[in-house]
Amino acid sequence: MATKLAFTVNGAPRAIAAPPQTPLLYVLRNELNLTGPRFGCGVAQCGACAVLVDGHEVRSCVTPAGSVNGKHITTIEGLPALWAAGQPSAQTGTLHPVQQAWIDEQVPQCGYCQSGMMIAAVDLLSKNPNPTAAQVKDAFTNTPPSPHLCRCGTYAAIVDAVLLAARTMSTGKAG
Ligand code: FES
Ligand code: FES
Repeated sequence: MATKLAFTVNGAPRAIAAPPQTPLLYVLRNELNLTGPRFGCGVAQCGACAVLVDGHEVRSCVTPAGSVNGKHITTIEGLPALWAAGQPSAQTGTLHPVQQAWIDEQVPQCGYCQSGMMIAAVDLLSKNPNPTAAQVKDAFTNTPPSPHLCRCGTYAAIVDAVLLAARTMSTGKAG
């Protein structure tokens, strides 16, 4: 039975009517047209659907929409605004340093997994602003509920991009 659900998505209040058990991923993609988060496995095992809820990564394919009622959700589409909000001098529309680093390091191949990878990077850098390469690898492989998987094998470039983003963010400059 549909219930009114309300949350903040990428800084804007949004309200929908949906059964509370509806996966958050379906709400984001089908109701709110935010197609950055991807459906990969559907069972919390790949990370393609990752988004931030109150600043922490969740697998939106297994997160009931009702469980995030009243919370703040950030998708890949919201990362520029998330970065700008913390940087008074940043220009509106500037990519998040993680996104820019992904471009600079030419990380994506098919790209399917990369939205989730960048969300994981933002989550990691919010907790550990200056990680080592080993800590980056650990975060992408040993953080519950499962590793972030890339069938194209972009893992080495991801590590380079996270380290580049960390350097950029430490100087407060995007791009
Ligand atoms: S689609 Fe959610 S973890 Fe794979
Ligand atoms: S870039 Fe293709 S699955 Fe990761």
